[in-house]
Amino acid sequence: DQNKFQAIISHCKEYGFVFPSSEIYDGLSAVYDYGQYGAQLKKNIRDYWWTSMTQMHENIVGIDAAIFMHPTTWKASGHVDNFSDPMIDNKDSKKRYRVDHLLEAHAETLTPEAGDALLQKMNDLLKENDYAGLKQLIESNNIKCTVSGTNNWTDVRQFNLMFSTQLGSVTDEASEIYLRPETAQGIFVNFLNVQKTGRMKIPFGIAQIGKAFRNEIVARQFIFRMREFEQMEMQFFIRPGSQKEWYAYWKEERMKWHQSLGTPATSYRFKDHEKLAHYADAAVDIEYEFPIGFKEVEGIHSRTDFDLKNHQEYSKKKLQYFDPEINQNYIPYVIETSIGLDRMFLLTVCNAYEEQDLSTPEKADSRVVMHFPAKLAPIKLAIFPLTKKDGLPEIARQLMDECKSSFYCFYEEKDAIGKRYRRQDAIGTPFCVTIDHQTKEDNTVTIRYRDSMEQERIPLAEVRERVLKAIL
Ligand code: GAP
Repeated sequence: DQNKFQAIISHCKEYGFVFPSSEIYDGLSAVYDYGQYGAQLKKNIRDYWWTSMTQMHENIVGIDAAIFMHPTTWKASGHVDNFSDPMIDNKDSKKRYRVDHLLEAHAETLTPEAGDALLQKMNDLLKENDYAGLKQLIESNNIKCTVSGTNNWTDVRQFNLMFSTQLGSVTDEASEIYLRPETAQGIFVNFLNVQKTGRMKIPFGIAQIGKAFRNEIVARQFIFRMREFEQMEMQFFIRPGSQKEWYAYWKEERMKWHQSLGTPATSYRFKDHEKLAHYADAAVDIEYEFPIGFKEVEGIHSRTDFDLKNHQEYSKKKLQYFDPEINQNYIPYVIETSIGLDRMFLLTVCNAYEEQDLSTPEKADSRVVMHFPAKLAPIKLAIFPLTKKDGLPEIARQLMDECKSSFYCFYEEKDAIGKRYRRQDAIGTPFCVTIDHQTKEDNTVTIRYRDSMEQERIPLAEVRERVLKAIL
């Protein structure tokens, strides 16, 4: 449903969640900034992942490696040679396309059977790196460039997705470095540092959250595919031979994590990879049903000893583990869980968004409400004095002071109460509290619940506990 997706994008902009980057200069393609509520929501998702990975698992620790890495890292990891996508240019419009995006968009215009057959053929050709066949597939389907309407294509070529830049002031080949296209390599190169200093015993994991960069061609669909994005990755180091079992374990664990946020199970599905990345011996995606269809949010990959083995070879440093239980030295195998923070943000926003018709026979009415799980909501509690006088703001300020060190609060005394409630609905604040004249008499307040819009009279002294209980 493209309309719903567009409405969500507009809502994100209008309410300070996501802005196009450098918008006053007309933006930068596939780069976005998070606004005041977006940054807070993103932080809450990040913290939730970090806590459930590290704090909740005694055998998983977190690190924070640099974005810049020694350039040999990317030779060893295979990214210099393999991290590329087949591209094709339209000769007339000079526009460049990813071959799979072009064919996928075309498949959507066909009947389901014909579309599936086309995608099957495309996957077969991609698997065999048959570029001539891919070009032929595009031409024989008479796929036209959307701008100029011509079917006049260059050959298909590989295009590396890594951004490069220069380290230091001298421009030569040796000083060329890359912006990391995944955070995982910062974990692999620190495997021994962490294992030794943390006295970690296999199986154990290392988690990390950080920015990654990819020069995506035809980046589109809002923050779904960006050129600068954030990943939350965890590498789980295991005994060789146990990868099937741990792969199955993490697949289930990660699905449980998603569902712990209250998203309906039917909104998710697993999708096995047809074409494996250069490092994997098994891979599955967790897909979510966005308004634009089921799309990948997270990948679980069985990476074997591919990365550590290659880093050992390139660095000439032994990256092995002595396993006292079996009295053996080995290079550990790795199961990776990798989720895009921005995609999880988009999922959270799409899942929360609702346009509600509240019309009665007497009056037309509606609201947009974001049903964020309370623990993810950017603001937890809005505090409203009914009027600006009679000592009500002072009581409201006192409540604010009592609560703000524990969770994010919002104070507002302007406009009618109904209007203030609606603004909080639109940013997903689960609780609003109104201080009125009765408060001065009996120390009670009205608490209003975002989802049901129900209101209840409770003691002022209970507000903080009530909110704390809901966000834990
Ligand atoms: N270390 C493995 C790895 O990077 P990936 O499947 O290429 O695997 C993992 O990426 C996750 O990162 C994806 O599931 C997605 O959520 C996120 N991701 C990848 N490319 C992205 C992009 N261009 N924009 C936003 N998120 C992206």
